[in-house]
Amino acid sequence: MMTTRIANTPLLSLALDRSTMVPLQMQIYDQIRDAILSGRLAPGTGLPATRTLATELGLSRNTILGAFDRLLAEGYVEGKPGSGTHVSNILPDDLLSTRGRTASQSRSSAPAGKTSQLSKMLTKGHYRRRHSAAGARAFRPGLPDLDNFPFQLWGRINARFWQHPPRLLLHSGDLGGYLPLRQSIAAYLGAVRGLRCSADQIMITSGAQQALDLIARAIIDPGDDVWVENPGYAGMRATLIAAGATIRHVPVDQNGISVNAGRKLAPDAVLAAVTPSHQFPLGVTMSLARRLELLDWADDANAWILEDDYDSEFRYGGKPLSALQGLDDAGRVIYVGTFSKVLFPSLRLGYVVVPEKLLAPFMDLRASIDDHPALALQPVLHQFFEDGHFASHIRKQRKLYAQRQDQLIQALDKSAQGLFSATSHDAGMHLVAKIDPDCTLSDQDISRRASDIGLSVPALSTYFAGDFKGRRIKQGLILGYAGLTEKEINKEVKRLVEAIV
Ligand SMILES: Cc1ncc(COP(=O)(O)O)c(C=O)c1O
Repeated sequence: MMTTRIANTPLLSLALDRSTMVPLQMQIYDQIRDAILSGRLAPGTGLPATRTLATELGLSRNTILGAFDRLLAEGYVEGKPGSGTHVSNILPDDLLSTRGRTASQSRSSAPAGKTSQLSKMLTKGHYRRRHSAAGARAFRPGLPDLDNFPFQLWGRINARFWQHPPRLLLHSGDLGGYLPLRQSIAAYLGAVRGLRCSADQIMITSGAQQALDLIARAIIDPGDDVWVENPGYAGMRATLIAAGATIRHVPVDQNGISVNAGRKLAPDAVLAAVTPSHQFPLGVTMSLARRLELLDWADDANAWILEDDYDSEFRYGGKPLSALQGLDDAGRVIYVGTFSKVLFPSLRLGYVVVPEKLLAPFMDLRASIDDHPALALQPVLHQFFEDGHFASHIRKQRKLYAQRQDQLIQALDKSAQGLFSATSHDAGMHLVAKIDPDCTLSDQDISRRASDIGLSVPALSTYFAGDFKGRRIKQGLILGYAGLTEKEINKEVKRLVEAIV
């Protein structure tokens, strides 16, 4: 992270973190807004010209203009970007009501300047915001195709159900989620992913992320060792850290997480969090031998395994391996799935398959968070399953994504020679492109330039963390292709190349 003091505005310094998924424009907006709210930038203070700021921060002027436009639209600043902007004399109403009170009007007895307590986790920045809609940019990994989603069908099912909803459903719901949907999911997981589970074991959550959070809170006591994959998914790490885990970064090789390395690093870890079907972000599939090794370790250590099966529906080649959960005779695997990739991310529907012996404590934990998951969309999704639309949507998308992956490889071959290239992956929604040895830019340089022209191309090196001792941190680019048409792929690859040559 780099902090830049802004000349002529002594109280404004901006710390931009280019390694996160939070767009730079959003980071600038957030930090200026915070400076205004905390009083560091007083009403009437002039903000630097957008051009100056762009030069000082080494960003495009459009990035700054975007942040300023939002501050203007929300009333934090006044004036016109380009011809002088200053902090508003009257801040938005809601701020006035809570912050505009003078010290004498305040009922608080806290000494001036002292902030009430915030948890250390929060103040140390362990919690991270995920993408906003503004983050839906070309190549963003995990973004599905949305043009071919059968919205008309979805809308019809929704209308049919909610015109005459069963009265009972309007009062309350089942703690684990809508039972018919859980039955559909259990049947699907058994038939397609080789899981052994009943509908009772399925707990509907708000996306996979909430499932990860539930598991972390259920299993971890502060200070417990947890294995996470290195490189790995930042959202997983953040959730585990928030639950107090001591993160043990275990390297991933071509067969998945290295159980040997994990045993050396932290033999008594309480949990191993893994993505066996399609390792995030490298894309390798955990071999059968490694799966058995991992299960053996969990038995020896009396530990749990969190299997995050976030995009397993999209497999194009290679030997399909059923889920780790299906191999587990001891009931140690806690399986997580999501509809964010198969349907659309804002649906916020995912699920945990809870081992029988954990069912009661998980339900207790769930009850302390919320009565039950929001019910409006669950019956709709259930009908979508029952009418066969879910299976047929996956079939169509799988075919489409395979074509898009080919198209991306071809476009890189054609336009990005000498810079980076990719070979086909058996599964998933993104490719990891290798940087050519002749290319003088690092993956983070390329990612920054991509961001400046509105593309989201995360650098592989930023997914590595911690004590990756002695091993070379790999360079590469993560390129999501599922949400781009073939025409868009060609166009955006050309733009990316133009931005870096
Ligand atoms: C590996 C992995 N796990 C979990 C998630 C969270 O998915 P959801 O959107 O369902 O919360 C993501 C999202 O990108 C992911 O990449």
